[in-house]
Amino acid sequence: MSPRMLPAGDDPIRPAASTPVAITLDGERLEGIAGQSIAGVILASGQLGFRRTSAAGRPRGIFCGIGVCFDCMVEVDGARDVRACQRRAVDGNAVTTQHDALPVPPSSERGGSDD
Ligand code: FES
Repeated sequence: MSPRMLPAGDDPIRPAASTPVAITLDGERLEGIAGQSIAGVILASGQLGFRRTSAAGRPRGIFCGIGVCFDCMVEVDGARDVRACQRRAVDGNAVTTQHDALPVPPSSERGGSDD
């Protein structure tokens, strides 16, 4: 269990007992509970950045958390471009980070031939 989780006994709402799930992020085992998003499991592990921007390679993670910004894209069990904030973690998910280089337009679209 993550140290960031409130123990069920201390939670005034008294939720039902949770079912643990375990996923991997780039091979590292992360633990969460059933119902958490993949992003939730990753954030609970203390990792904030799990994608790199195409242009500058800067770290990105959760921005909107509601499926609008696409900053949280990861690959899940071989499927690319999954929004981690919108996908529930399933026990055994193999999550890998994504970094895609920007496509290079053909020289005719760049306004000349500079090859
Ligand atoms: S954080 Fe914005 S789409 Fe996932």
